[in-house]
Amino acid sequence: MPFDVFFYNSGAESLAASIISAIACSDAKKPEVMLPAYACPELVSAVLYAGAKPILVDLEYQKTWINLEELKQKLSENTVAIIAVNLFGIPEQLIKIREICTQNNIFMIEDSAQSFPRMSDNEFWQGDYVILSFGRGKPISTLGGGAVLCKNDNLKKFLPNESEVIKIRKISGSLLYRLKIFLYNMLLHPRLYFIPHGLPFLKLGKTLFKPLDSINSIYYDNISILDSNIEAYMHSHLEKNILRISDIVSKSGVVNLPVVSCQNDNIPNLIRYPVLANSKNQRDQLFSKLEMAGLGASKMYEKPLNKIKGLEEFFLHQGEYPNAELFADTLLTLPTHRYVTLSCIKKIKAILRG
Ligand SMILES: Cc1ncc(COP(=O)(O)O)c(C=O)c1O
Repeated sequence: MPFDVFFYNSGAESLAASIISAIACSDAKKPEVMLPAYACPELVSAVLYAGAKPILVDLEYQKTWINLEELKQKLSENTVAIIAVNLFGIPEQLIKIREICTQNNIFMIEDSAQSFPRMSDNEFWQGDYVILSFGRGKPISTLGGGAVLCKNDNLKKFLPNESEVIKIRKISGSLLYRLKIFLYNMLLHPRLYFIPHGLPFLKLGKTLFKPLDSINSIYYDNISILDSNIEAYMHSHLEKNILRISDIVSKSGVVNLPVVSCQNDNIPNLIRYPVLANSKNQRDQLFSKLEMAGLGASKMYEKPLNKIKGLEEFFLHQGEYPNAELFADTLLTLPTHRYVTLSCIKKIKAILRG
């Protein structure tokens, strides 16, 4: 059965919409939503906006996955949903999480903001709700917008009414939007990586907590280029760069996260190639070298959610998350997009093999 699609103005708003629907379909008096302790702060913004309490769960040691034992221990009569995040494009343990959800009569919200299937992958999405983001750096980017995919008629009824009017930008806003798209695409080119620091309005590379204040429909401009961007993604052949980088990483003595997380050899499409260094010190050194060479490396969110500025107060008495903390301290991600040339890959190899 195909999914129905409900468009909102961002991934965070789409996530909030799905949590609102899940709460409406649950008996919980004080709704709680479980999420990984290492994730982007928008997840917390969405949970809070929907009126639920966010409950953090540690990661498995050196994995992108939530720790299932801890998850089970933290379930309560108030648990409404688990947010399963396909981080960087690496699928969560969706079958196991689905089992826990079914046994406990709660919903699985699959956050697929960072992942999008290849053309042939019909079984990719498993969630009761699937969240997409079309924001910056996402697999399908229109520099804004998001969606909820849902098959269940009962759950669909409770999604906030998103799209009675698809918003139209005024002409000046529309031109600014086109300019942002143009600059963003230009900046993906390795030679121009140094520019974003001078363009603060693009806010590249910052991890900030921003409370969500409303749920809105997507803009017409974003929808209008979605089809062609999906088409371009389907034909982008990212796998070539992914395999080249994987080969280099495997021989570099760092943890090759996609390889250790995949049951078969089939690495999925990744928005960035994540690796774990052996220490924070090693990660920081590798990052500095890659940055000096203009190779577009990133440390992503540098802290677990309970230590991000503005979020500490929500998690004061929830304990510590040692695996998420180690993950944040040692994570390094490498670019995989279509402008990464062979010459970039050779430079990455020289630095990683150092
Ligand atoms: C896993 C994940 N979920 C949700 C979001 C929120 O998406 P948006 O930026 O479109 O609000 C992000 C944003 O980076 C994300 O990485």
